[in-house]
Amino acid sequence: MVAQLLGLAFLYLTTSLATFTANATKINQIGQVVYKDSRVYGVVNRAVILECGSTLPDHYIWIFKKPGTDRVIAVAYDIGKGPRVTTLSQTLGQLSVISNSASVSIERLNVAAHGLFVCQATYDKEPEPELIFYNVHLVVRVPIRNPELSISDVSPVEGSTVQMRCNLENGTGPIVYKWQHESSVGDITDFAQGNSSTINVTNVNRNHTGRYRCVASNAVNSESSKWVKLETIFGPDVPQIQVTPHSVTGRGYSALERDTVFLLCQAQSHPPSQYVWFYNKSQVFTGPNYNITNILRIHTGEYTCLAHNTYLNTRSRKTISLTVYSEPRFNIYPAVVGAAIGGMLFAAILTMLLLVYIIRNRNNNPRLHDLLFGSQHSQSRENINLPEDDGGSEGGIEEIGGSSSPAPALALPRAASPLTTSP
Ligand SMILES: *[C@@H]1O[C@H](CO)[C@@H](O)[C@H](O)[C@H]1NC(C)=O
Ligand SMILES: *[C@@H]1O[C@H](CO)[C@@H](O)[C@H](O)[C@H]1NC(C)=O
Ligand SMILES: *[C@@H]1O[C@H](CO)[C@@H](O)[C@H](O)[C@H]1NC(C)=O
Ligand SMILES: *[C@@H]1O[C@H](CO)[C@@H](O)[C@H](O)[C@H]1NC(C)=O
Ligand SMILES: *[C@@H]1O[C@H](CO)[C@@H](O)[C@H](O)[C@H]1NC(C)=O
Ligand SMILES: *[C@@H]1O[C@H](CO)[C@@H](O)[C@H](O)[C@H]1NC(C)=O
Ligand SMILES: *[C@@H]1O[C@H](CO)[C@@H](O)[C@H](O)[C@H]1NC(C)=O
Repeated sequence: MVAQLLGLAFLYLTTSLATFTANATKINQIGQVVYKDSRVYGVVNRAVILECGSTLPDHYIWIFKKPGTDRVIAVAYDIGKGPRVTTLSQTLGQLSVISNSASVSIERLNVAAHGLFVCQATYDKEPEPELIFYNVHLVVRVPIRNPELSISDVSPVEGSTVQMRCNLENGTGPIVYKWQHESSVGDITDFAQGNSSTINVTNVNRNHTGRYRCVASNAVNSESSKWVKLETIFGPDVPQIQVTPHSVTGRGYSALERDTVFLLCQAQSHPPSQYVWFYNKSQVFTGPNYNITNILRIHTGEYTCLAHNTYLNTRSRKTISLTVYSEPRFNIYPAVVGAAIGGMLFAAILTMLLLVYIIRNRNNNPRLHDLLFGSQHSQSRENINLPEDDGGSEGGIEEIGGSSSPAPALALPRAASPLTTSP
């Protein structure tokens, strides 16, 4: 190798000297040899032409030196009896001499032809024959073939690291690797590029889900691998609970008695979560949609949705509190209080009116008067506030207050009827 490098260095050195003097050799110094260097790029299995000057020399010989060896072989020549191609040249491809020149064409180029070709050409000129060395450095490139993407884990858990490798069947360097990602919605992005055939994707997240491929490029061509699917495993996230109808108070969600309440639980997760609903810590339903038809006040309490990723065996939960009211809740207190006060007032007025009526008409109806106040006709405040009367009034109030929801509706007519009929 060192010897070869030295040899090449020597060739380059003499060549550069030669080119400086080349135009001057028209003077044709005796014993002077001309060196001409060039670099030719070929592609394996294709054709390439190696030139040996622009005019046909009188004699020439093409030799080949493989890099890393000391071996030199002759591949073609014409030493006066016409062009010849050696059998050894067949290891380099299908070599032939182009007619009326000393240039050779190599078809079906073999990668073994990568190396230094030298055409030593002589021109019978007067007064001195000319000797030129054409040094042709042939670079044989191999196209990229069959890039294949392998991913260390196609179902990585969120947060982990994934290694991606782009394996090629063939391809000469330098190779540039481009890494592409197609998201779940079909957008393709280049997410990495470089000269390394492996990359590490650290801290994988759910956005890494999608398809991947690598594109390898060299001086000859560019090839893409097949798409490889990756699905990040994650979750469940903290669930979102949707309550329909949506009604929020300071104490949480609220609903009206006899409504149907739809509870929907959603937690981002892959694979998708399994859902379980709890009411006050006891399981009531399995599935994301928990519908409570004809809800009652006794259904007030805490509703918890538990999401479970069975693949990772991870869970998350969310709890809401739901209060069920029997009436439009902003009217219920005024209604009850109003009914109670109204009831009391009516009862009190009714009692007063009744007493006044009875006292005023005691002469017309002494039996009733006596029944109420006894036979002695005393009239005092103490006597007016009799337990029986009070008891009767309170009873009415209790009845009104006791039936909470239909109270106002029933209380008014009942209190009103004696008032209208009594006079
Ligand atoms: C020699 O000739 C070539 C053209 O044939 C020209 O490009 C080059 O500059 C010349 N070199 C010198 C040293 O004159
Ligand atoms: C491509 O690679 C295969 C094996 O990897 C090898 O047999 C074949 O010769 C290679 N082709 C070229 C053109 O290098
Ligand atoms: C790859 O690229 C880096 C910089 O991008 C460079 O330092 C390194 O030499 C390159 N390696 C090869 C083998 O080309
Ligand atoms: C990727 O990670 C592996 C180990 O996890 C390491 O050996 C390798 O060097 C890393 N590759 C790159 C390109 O960082
Ligand atoms: C995923 O992408 C979305 C939209 O671009 C972004 O809002 C979100 O933060 C990303 N998630 C992660 C874990 O990076
Ligand atoms: C609950 O109601 C929703 C909306 O009407 C419906 O899509 C869902 O199937 C219901 N769920 C059950 C378990 O009945
Ligand atoms: C459920 O819990 C709430 C308080 O969070 C309570 O008011 C309600 O009575 C409980 N219901 C049952 C049926 O235990």
